[in-house]
Amino acid sequence: MLVDGYRRPVTYLRVSVTDRCNLRCVYCMPPEGIEWQPHAGILRYEEIYAAVRAAAGLGIRSVRLTGGEPLVRAGLPALVEMLAAIPGIQEVSLTTNGLLLEKMAPELAQAGLKRVNVSLDSLSPERFARITRGGSLDQVLRGVQAAEACGLTPVKFNVVVLRGVNLDELLDLAALSFENKRQVRFIELMPVKNQAPWGEGFPASGQAYVPAGEILRRLAPLDPQPVASTCGCGPARSYTIAGGRGVIGLISPIGDHFCGSCNRLRLTADGNLRPCLLNDQEVPLRPALRAGQPLEPLFEQAARLKPSGHQLDLRPALGGRSMRQIGG
Ligand code: 5AD
Ligand code: SF4
Repeated sequence: MLVDGYRRPVTYLRVSVTDRCNLRCVYCMPPEGIEWQPHAGILRYEEIYAAVRAAAGLGIRSVRLTGGEPLVRAGLPALVEMLAAIPGIQEVSLTTNGLLLEKMAPELAQAGLKRVNVSLDSLSPERFARITRGGSLDQVLRGVQAAEACGLTPVKFNVVVLRGVNLDELLDLAALSFENKRQVRFIELMPVKNQAPWGEGFPASGQAYVPAGEILRRLAPLDPQPVASTCGCGPARSYTIAGGRGVIGLISPIGDHFCGSCNRLRLTADGNLRPCLLNDQEVPLRPALRAGQPLEPLFEQAARLKPSGHQLDLRPALGGRSMRQIGG
């Protein structure tokens, strides 16, 4: 079993399948995009399969596919099917911007996908298009409906809270959880790469951060009731709303030290194991994968390297990788 240096069991692997994306969210990418990784550097599906098999042998039970935007990688349902068939893997899920979900949800569900998380920072079509630099809110909402119709549930929404951008919408976004057992998770803006100005009408990135305490105060009119964490399954704090069927969550990497319940490793699209989202240390897996060497020692090394907590207070902005390279 994978256990880190602080006796936290590691049961969850996030796998970034591409650094490419069909959107350009202001907090994630510059408008012109970025220099993509060359194809040869990206793990092939057989290589991801081999990595997840090794991880499953060490106790990984749950895999989440991320990007960039995972659905822009050709043939993703085939990868879902391969991973879902690995003994020990109980759940394959996906984090997506939702643009391609309407088209792909049936195929993904058929392949064995269990759930989707959809990024959704605004319910105003104009504002949504500005934040994502061109995305269609309507297309995403149709994608969500398609996912729910195929049983990819409960759908979780990821809302990055941004001062001067969507603070006035928190109650409306929370209301998405009132029907259909959905979860709406409010995420503090993380100071990862891409601190360049976001463009006209947006605050300076340093000013957009809203601490979790303030987010919770703004949700107070809904009287959110904390739910005891039942599963040790990661960093969200959850709340129910009277009369609502779903749950709202708060993800607070900066304001709050949630690192104690961290249960995950990340595999980047170019094949590095990343022990902590907010720490640039990585363990390369690709050379061993391509040389047919055992992967287990590298997973164990990555688990041992998991820090007890991040040190964002000491080193505010990360230099190395941006979120679309790590997959959130
Ligand atoms: N801070 C917080 N969340 C972010 N995401 C992307 N960049 C950031 C950031 N700097 C979110 C996306 C997506 C998830 C994978 O990570 O909105 O929902
Ligand atoms: Fe794409 Fe997600 Fe980054 Fe937006 S946040 S540009 S959807 S990878």
